[in-house]
Amino acid sequence: MTSSAFSYRNGTLCAETLPLAEIADEVGTPFYCYSTQQLQRNYRDFAAPFADMDATICFAVKSNANLAVIRTLAACGAGADITAAGELERAMQAGVKPEKIVYSGAGKRRDEIMAAIKARIRQINAESLSELPVISSVAVELGVTTPVMLRVNPDVDAKTHKHLATGHKETKFGIEMAQLDEAIRLATTLPGLDFKGFSVHVGTHVMDYEPFRLAYRKLADLVKSCRARGVKIERLDLGGGVGIPYDGQKLAPFADYAAVVHDEIAPLGCAVIFEPGRRLVGDAGVLVSRVVYVKQGVTKKFLVLDAGMNDLIRPAMYEARHGIVAVRSSGDAETETVDVVGPVCETGDMFGKNYSLPKMQAGDLVAILQGGAYGAAMSSVYNGRPLIPEVLVDGARHAVVRRRLSVAEQMAWESMPEWLASDRAV
Ligand code: LLP
Repeated sequence: MTSSAFSYRNGTLCAETLPLAEIADEVGTPFYCYSTQQLQRNYRDFAAPFADMDATICFAVKSNANLAVIRTLAACGAGADITAAGELERAMQAGVKPEKIVYSGAGKRRDEIMAAIKARIRQINAESLSELPVISSVAVELGVTTPVMLRVNPDVDAKTHKHLATGHKETKFGIEMAQLDEAIRLATTLPGLDFKGFSVHVGTHVMDYEPFRLAYRKLADLVKSCRARGVKIERLDLGGGVGIPYDGQKLAPFADYAAVVHDEIAPLGCAVIFEPGRRLVGDAGVLVSRVVYVKQGVTKKFLVLDAGMNDLIRPAMYEARHGIVAVRSSGDAETETVDVVGPVCETGDMFGKNYSLPKMQAGDLVAILQGGAYGAAMSSVYNGRPLIPEVLVDGARHAVVRRRLSVAEQMAWESMPEWLASDRAV
């Protein structure tokens, strides 16, 4: 399924009203293409059910760190959820107000904490007993008091891919329930810390909302027990993690997730923060690629694309199956079953097996759907392949929001040691 922003007009797949084939002619392939309208719609759909609450939606910029994408969402009202100082710089450069930036992460370095406190972000979500004294000492050094939250590991099974679950106790994320009393003691007594409440993130691409209910209920119990002890809790950060339908998947309506929040969290009267990534950007982007070869093997047919696992690593890393469609499709074209692979020198460089696609030829274009989240953001230059362009469409207009990086630019990051610098070294 294509999302409403990517649909066929006159047999050719368009981003909003612009044919993807035209963009391919202009920027070459492969490239990522994002839809402004879909980003805006996704933000509105996420925010609407929480209009009756004091809610801030902080876009998880790790899912798509492109400045234009961040700015598009910020213009809708989004803040940012960051996981490293580099994302802090990006979010601020894109125009996100520091008071709407929240910072989670198991391994925040002292210099990163320093940058975040100096920027006066909304809150740091501390993930361990070891981190709290570091935040405290940085705040004291800067002569300020900084808002902190405790990220709780609720020990629930997110029922997602094993690499995508974060909320059970074997993972490195969050503070285990058994250590929370000590964490609260530190957060409320160490100098420079202003303890605001709890955060939780159960995992990502969570398709069944029950794990959210379990985690949020634990959070609510925690709030009640704190309040009974006289510990003030003002805010709750409910994390991200709501899934989207990839190829052939079905997802319960978002209203069901909103109902969980209303049931479990709203009665507490806390300010609430959400950290969605995939739900805001996933279906707002596609990866457009050209067929390099149609390879007929003895038993199998392969479409070898010019996009590879370095451009989109999700299938190789999480066995993710993205939708794949032909950019030109007449609807009644004869279809065939193919494995869709990339050019990278790895067996895992495969977008998926047994896709049913119209008969294709070398030079034809395909769109890999649900490419807006964790696509470009996780890409690499493996196999000497340049980072690919990102294009943002808004109605009939479009702009290249990251250009293709040349191999020469890639090599310019490197330098030769003096003893290898002369030609005589080879
Ligand atoms: N908040 C925290 C603390 C997180 O760790 C994450 C994602 C999010 C929010 C956003 O989660 P989302 O709403 O996007 O599910 N590379 C993987 C996803 C890793 C997500 C890591 N943390 C993938 O391609 O599926």
